[in-house]
Amino acid sequence: MKKYAAFFVALIVLVLGVGFTYKQLKRTEINDTPTNNSAATQETPQSSTESFNKQQHSLTDPTSIWLVVDKQRGISADFVPDLVVPDVKLRLASSEEQMQINTITEPAIKELFAAAKNDGVTLVFGSGYRSGALQKQFYDSYKAKDGQAAADTYSARPGHSEHQTGFAADITSVSGTCHLQICWENTPEGKWIAENAYKYGFIIRYPKDKQDITGYQYEPWHIRYVDKELAAEIHKTGQTLEEFFELGPAPNYD
Ligand code: DAL
Ligand code: ZN
Repeated sequence: MKKYAAFFVALIVLVLGVGFTYKQLKRTEINDTPTNNSAATQETPQSSTESFNKQQHSLTDPTSIWLVVDKQRGISADFVPDLVVPDVKLRLASSEEQMQINTITEPAIKELFAAAKNDGVTLVFGSGYRSGALQKQFYDSYKAKDGQAAADTYSARPGHSEHQTGFAADITSVSGTCHLQICWENTPEGKWIAENAYKYGFIIRYPKDKQDITGYQYEPWHIRYVDKELAAEIHKTGQTLEEFFELGPAPNYD
């Protein structure tokens, strides 16, 4: 009789043991599922554009690295940023107004020029800051030469140029090949800028086929400092500042 009792107890222990192990296995399986799912989520991250905080800087303050200035969005023609002559290869004498850039952009332009040099490409700083008065002088001369409609496709009116903010620069080369012409994109300097400028915080502000949005024809030489984070986004998406910030196009003045 004792034998039967012992057998019976052993059987119960066995049944309970198997049941417990089964439960543990099931639990592990259940726990594994979300772990696997979260791993899958991590493997397919959200596009960084979706998570990019577009409100980090002002789009209207003329001292903001994300300022958007175009034919629809002007700044005061009297605005003058904090300026400095950058320690890079200059096209003109350092005393010339255009051979300046704002103090925020200067470290970045130095980094850009040094990186190009390292890759065997010598960039030249063609034109940086332009006061409202100098921009007017340029615009008026283009208007007299080509007429207003044509001038408006490649030169900004005073109070509407990125050059007045000190965040923009026209880049050229020692040879001057294709200086301020679309063929500059095919020069070693133009190719280097297209491939690398974003790594140092600059965008090509007037890309090809975006005149309906930016208001200007393609300018492969005109770079605009926006910081590395935004430049990487813009480079990736191929958008203009107007598109990225969903501001609406600026093909014309009001
Ligand atoms: N060339 C650009 C549009 C400017 O004049 O600012
Ligand atoms: Zn320019």
